[in-house]
Amino acid sequence: MIRKILSTKNPKMSQICKKVKVVDKKVISITKDLKETLKAQKEPEGVGLAAPQIGENLRIFAMNDNGKIRVIINPEILEISKEKPKKEKSDEKEIMEGCLSLPNYYGPLKRFQRVKIKYLGLNGTLKEEEFKGLSAQIVQHEIDHLNGIVFVNRLLEQKQPLYKLENDEWVEIELI
Ligand code: NI
Repeated sequence: MIRKILSTKNPKMSQICKKVKVVDKKVISITKDLKETLKAQKEPEGVGLAAPQIGENLRIFAMNDNGKIRVIINPEILEISKEKPKKEKSDEKEIMEGCLSLPNYYGPLKRFQRVKIKYLGLNGTLKEEEFKGLSAQIVQHEIDHLNGIVFVNRLLEQKQPLYKLENDEWVEIELI
């Protein structure tokens, strides 16, 4: 079922989500709704959707991983790329990031390029996986949602501007 996406202002978006205890029918149904709702988003399209965005207080998210929509349950970060990169390039890359709970707003956010997580698969087994580049960015954004953090909080931390895309033009928005 395609669900309504909550706005970042909704109090449910700033709660810390609970771990999934058992992958039961209810959890499976939420994973299906997350996938369907993510797929249905056009203008703007989305690359990830977390359970709190559809009002479910559980540690689950859906993501578009190189063209494939996948579901991740109970993600825990095992490693994040913090080693000194070669030469003097930063290990973090700045990209314009947005969120389906705040459509048409974007900001240049720094995320780590690689992240290794453990998570629960749909069949209930524990898995470990490393994500890189855009997929790593999505994983970090979605795990933030499960901890009640939205990308605008990260922009404030990094003292970066927020822009609104209006008639194909970027308008800077004042963050208070
Ligand atoms: Ni988001």
